[in-house]
This record gives sequence, C-alpha cells and structure tokens, in this order.
Amino acid sequence: MSIQIVSGTAHPALTDAVADALGTEPVTSEVVRFPDGELRPVVGGVQGGDVYVLQPTGPAVNDHLVELLLLLDACRRGGARTLTAVVPYFGYARQDRRGLAGEAVGARVVADALASVGVDRLVVVDPHTSALEAMCAMPVEMLTAVPVLAGVLAQETPDTTVVVAPDLGAVKLAEHYARLLRRPVAVVRKRRVTGERVHAEELAGDVAGRPVVIVDDMISTGGTIEAAVRVLRAAGAASDITVAATHGPLVAAAHERLARLSLRRLLVTDTLPASRERPPWLQVRSVAPLLADAIGRLRDNEPLDTLMIRT
Ligand code: R5P
Repeated sequence: MSIQIVSGTAHPALTDAVADALGTEPVTSEVVRFPDGELRPVVGGVQGGDVYVLQPTGPAVNDHLVELLLLLDACRRGGARTLTAVVPYFGYARQDRRGLAGEAVGARVVADALASVGVDRLVVVDPHTSALEAMCAMPVEMLTAVPVLAGVLAQETPDTTVVVAPDLGAVKLAEHYARLLRRPVAVVRKRRVTGERVHAEELAGDVAGRPVVIVDDMISTGGTIEAAVRVLRAAGAASDITVAATHGPLVAAAHERLARLSLRRLLVTDTLPASRERPPWLQVRSVAPLLADAIGRLRDNEPLDTLMIRT
C-alpha cells in the first residue's frame, strides 16, 4: 500500500517538500473555518491507506493542535489503515511536569488527545523533552535535526569554538553538538522570571577569548539567548557568537531582540513556517529530507535509529 500524505494548514510548504522528496503529492484536503472559529476539515480518499498527517503545532498553537486532531479523526473515520501524526514541532512539550502546584502537564494532555483520535505512531523532531515518549501510548519516533545543523556549524565556525548550553535543560543537546563538532562544552545557569524574561546567572566552562555557538531546542521570545549572550560577554567570550536551534517560532519581539545581539548567525530549521521576512543573519535549513527519509523507512519497515536522538 502506498503512503498518503495529508497536510494541515500550519505549514503546507513543508508538507509539499516532504511529499516531493517521496515522489508523491499530498492528498486533497480542505479545512473550513466557521465564523465562530470552529474548524471543519475534509480529507479525500484515504481508505485503506497508510496515512501521514503533517502539522507542526506552533503558533497559533491551540488552533493548529485542534486542527491536527480533527484531521486525524477525519482520516481514521475515512478508513485509513494506519495513521501517523508527523508533528515536526510539538507544542506544549515544555509543559512536561508541574513546576508549581496548580499547574497542568500540557504535554501529557496533548499525548492523550492524540491517542484518543486513534494515532498509531507519532513522529517528532527534537521535542523539548524526551519524556514525551513515556507520556505517549503510541510509539514515538524522536528524530533529530542536530546533524543537519552541526554540518553547517562545522563549515562556518572556527576550530576554537566552544559549544554553549544556555540552560541546564540543554546540556545533553549541547553534548550531542559537541560530539559531532569535536568541541568543548560550557553551560549557563538560567532562571525564568516570566514567559519573556529570563535571568542568567553564571557560567560553567571557559570561553575567554573564544568564539561560541549557543545551542538550544527552540528560540521563542529570544529571552534565553539574550541572557546567555550577556553572561558569555561578561565572561570574555569573543564577539563571534553563533546560535543554533531546531525550532524557531520567534514570537513577540524575538527578531528585534536577537538583532540587537549582533550575532554572526542564527541557524534554525523549517519545522515551523517563517513568521516574517528573513533578516540576513537568519539562516534556515530544511528538515524535509529528514522527514521524508523517516517516512520512507517506516513505509519500508526499515529502522530509523540513525535519524533519532542519541543521548
Ligand atoms: C526552555 O527550556 C527551552 O529549551 C528554550 O530555552 C526556551 O523555550 C526558549 O524560549 P525563549 O526564547 O522565550 O527564552
């Protein structure tokens, strides 16, 4: 049975690129938006197919999430033989535990919602938390874009570069980059004050006089990067600062904030569509070949291990 790719409205350009790489075209689908905000997706001809619904749940996160759930439900009710949700950016992954009494665990709620619409398998790219796999009832393929970005960094950054984790949560990710680039790691300790404000306190590691590349899973408001740059400059890092992250929602005033930092380069992937025109310091690499490779391997019952996160 051939694969059938269904696109949500969040990032049709990425779906087209994935389908193209697989030598197919997305199944016809339409998402009608009613005046009250409700969505009505209609998907054509998926009966008996191995269906892959591609939709990153980035901004507007809640709309894209509900649309994804409705599309998946439409495919299941339309007779899909197997149903895979391909969610390159998994919104709510940062809500993986309660930091305060009274909070929700959003990642678990989304995982349960996906299970409730009959998803057989979930494919994600560099989710904020690897705990996602344990939260989901279905198998989760956690792909990584780190080798794609590290390939660019290997070309563009000097041998003396230090890889920096901008918070403790990014240490494993930084170690992955450092292994591929054969460079040392430094770590910034950060405390989040509000959604947009971050306080970075101290640095473990030596960056004096050296170029740095700060790596993170995502850049949202840019607060984490801004705070890390402040600490690195205070520690005497060279002015040559590069930032690499898999996901770049770049919300609120992120562009202005990052522009003020005089970065050599900000490198992200296209797990999310561009929120506005690309400034010269922003470089985007596509995850379409990675997603197409993963889907092709699932179709052919081949292992995905070389595409997956290794910690
Ligand atoms: C949080 O721990 C994540 O790994 C990122 O560091 C964070 O979400 C980035 O958000 P912002 O750009 O708003 O600081």
